[in-house]
Amino acid sequence: MKFGIDKIGFATSHLYVDMSELAVARNEEPGKYLVGLGQSKMAVIPPSQDAVTLACSAADKILTDADKGEIGLVIFGTETGIDNSKAAAMYLVDLLGLPQNIRAFEVKQACYGATAGIAIARDYLRAHPDKKALVLGADIARYGLKTSGEPTQGGGAIALLLAASPQIMSLEEEPVYRAQNIMDFWRPLGLSEARVQGKYSSDVYLEYFERLFAEYCQQNESTLNDFAALVFHLPYTKMGLKALRTVLDEVSPEKAEYYLQQFEAAREFNRNVGNLYTGSLYLSLLSLLQNSSRLSVGDKVGLFSYGSGAQGEFFTGILQPGFAEIASDQGTAQFLAARHKVSVAEYEDLYQASLQNGADLQVDFENDPAKFVFTGVKNHQRQYLKRE
Ligand code: HMG
Repeated sequence: MKFGIDKIGFATSHLYVDMSELAVARNEEPGKYLVGLGQSKMAVIPPSQDAVTLACSAADKILTDADKGEIGLVIFGTETGIDNSKAAAMYLVDLLGLPQNIRAFEVKQACYGATAGIAIARDYLRAHPDKKALVLGADIARYGLKTSGEPTQGGGAIALLLAASPQIMSLEEEPVYRAQNIMDFWRPLGLSEARVQGKYSSDVYLEYFERLFAEYCQQNESTLNDFAALVFHLPYTKMGLKALRTVLDEVSPEKAEYYLQQFEAAREFNRNVGNLYTGSLYLSLLSLLQNSSRLSVGDKVGLFSYGSGAQGEFFTGILQPGFAEIASDQGTAQFLAARHKVSVAEYEDLYQASLQNGADLQVDFENDPAKFVFTGVKNHQRQYLKRE
């Protein structure tokens, strides 16, 4: 039975900060952020957006009424949870107008959450091939102002509609994965900003990729040449480039150049958004599909998912005929180009405002043009608005 990605939706806020301007404000060479980290713009998430509203916007872009009627499972991957008990999925089910005879819940394992959702959806769709599953990956990456992690912040959401007869990409059997208890990145209860051992986290990411890619190739008698492209979880885009470079000596210089060009296509959107944790790998997949001119139906794409703490997974997909439609869609590039630039001072104010919390809170949402906005908290209950 086939199983895989039927549709992909992406959303982020309407605001960004320019990485050259941020570098100057932090007394760093712009080259460090632009080239050293591989980031050009960073999404600035205002207080009127959270994981719920971002995920709703991403899903709203792809779901038809017919899709809504077929969804039987909603899995919300996030590490920017908004409640210690109630799943973000509950708000989303309501705001999107999904039917009530479904299962909806939240999963957490750092940036691996959406990949975990895909793994669960795979088994669900095997048992219910006439249904569809909606997997969300929505997050806001926060390390703190003036920290070394700051230029690797960002935020946004990916919505994946998964089906037994996928239009975009079928996902193959036999992923390889690995779990190990380490402290590379974490966010203790009560803190809004992550703690990270940055260099160590990058080293572990590379170690996981090299191990899992080798394991996959050994188990499947496969080599890099069998892949049309590799896509990576991109906490900052140079991270994926470093991982790709570890396997390029397996191929000829011409083929290595080809993989590097595919990688440029795959990092284009992430370079202009920053880290969106659970959604980053899938934004990179979308970026590859929409920015590469060197893909064909039947091509095999390798996907490396990494969630600090740490869970890694390498899995593969085969492009289906419907990918041509998403490949020719310019909507994401146009949306990113139409965003509004804020100054570093404005970004800092928005950042501080988004950390506010409390039993009662009013959020300024009037200037946020999004269809789904977070308007505040009343008596410990989060309030959302869906604009028609
Ligand atoms: P840093 O210490 O500020 O940066 O932290 P650096 O000194 O290592 O410089 C970065 C790069 O810029 C280096 O390149 C420099 O050479 C280069 P590299 O040696 O790495 O190839 N550079 C320049 N290049 C061009 N022109 C210049 C210039 N100056 C310097 N003028 C760090 C960087 C990424 C560690 C920091 O930002 C951080 O801690 N970020 C957060 C952690 C992170 O993203 N880790 C990634 C792996 S873990 C992961 O992916 C999981 C995660 O998404 C969370 C989850 O799972 O939930 C984070």
